[in-house]
Amino acid sequence: MILVTGATGNVGRRVVERLAAAGHGVRAVTRHPSRAKLPAGVEVVAADLADPASLRPHLADVDGVFLVWPFVDPATTAELAPRVAEVLAEAGSPHVAYVSAASAEADPQSFWALVERAVDDAGLPWTMLRPTGIATNALGWAAQIRAEGVVRWPYGAAARSMVHEDDIAAVAVEALTSDGHDKRTYVLSGPETVTQADQVRLIGESIGRDLRWEEITADELRPMLAAAMGSPAFADLALRSWATLIETPEPVTDDVAVVLGRPARTFAQWAADHVSDFR
Ligand SMILES: NC(=O)c1ccc[n+]([C@@H]2O[C@H](COP(=O)([O-])OP(=O)(O)OC[C@H]3O[C@@H](n4cnc5c(N)ncnc54)[C@H](OP(=O)(O)O)[C@@H]3O)[C@@H](O)[C@H]2O)c1
Repeated sequence: MILVTGATGNVGRRVVERLAAAGHGVRAVTRHPSRAKLPAGVEVVAADLADPASLRPHLADVDGVFLVWPFVDPATTAELAPRVAEVLAEAGSPHVAYVSAASAEADPQSFWALVERAVDDAGLPWTMLRPTGIATNALGWAAQIRAEGVVRWPYGAAARSMVHEDDIAAVAVEALTSDGHDKRTYVLSGPETVTQADQVRLIGESIGRDLRWEEITADELRPMLAAAMGSPAFADLALRSWATLIETPEPVTDDVAVVLGRPARTFAQWAADHVSDFR
């Protein structure tokens, strides 16, 4: 039995689908079970990571936990993550596959690094999945693309190695259902870097429409980004990190291929998989 947190999100939904299709027991966590649209046969349970004890009733027979951490604030995370890890340790120490971030390496005070440490400190078996950027970020452009065929955003020349959310899910399922992934950290990226402006061009090709990139400043985007991310500090961090990717492209790794035995999917493949989101 695998407990999947973030089960209604971009990555978690794919983890649920993959586990269910492979015949594993899946218990999907959401704060709103009545709204969750998940595959038949999946057990859907209510819990909130803001209240770690709410996980307790759902941990019987759980062998693995897919962990998505929803809080971006380091102070909140420093308080809650050790308590969540403790609840898991008390329930028999299931193997945790945590969706961290590549930047956890360079920023030990980031919420991602704090969750990693809490999981390790509790003595849980773990696999850290550290994506560079998740291609689903481009869904944030979908409304502008559908309405006007234009993306107004800063740093069009920032080169990112976005990874397909389903590749992260496939690695997570492998880590949770096969041996050899304990204490392994995988940095998950796509197979190449693509600038943000080129991502928009590739989305245009997938939907058969000429799309336009319109460069705006970081200051123009900041208020909207802070609202979307729920944190001005986190939005600032994101903007600063994108700015660096103009001179220094995001790293490309082969960890997806190493774990799955096939290459990571390209951004063009991701766009083709998401045509309906942009039309
Ligand atoms: N986007 C990137 O480029 C990037 C890069 C590196 C790392 N990451 C990390 O990747 C992770 C996964 O991203 P994603 O796109 O799959 O996430 P997502 O689509 O935003 O989904 C978030 C999930 O968190 C759940 N959630 C929210 N608040 C919760 C709470 N208080 N208790 C329990 N569950 C809660 C939501 O479930 P309900 O609403 O159903 O409860 C939802 O399923 C994130 O943690 C992010 O930090 C992202």
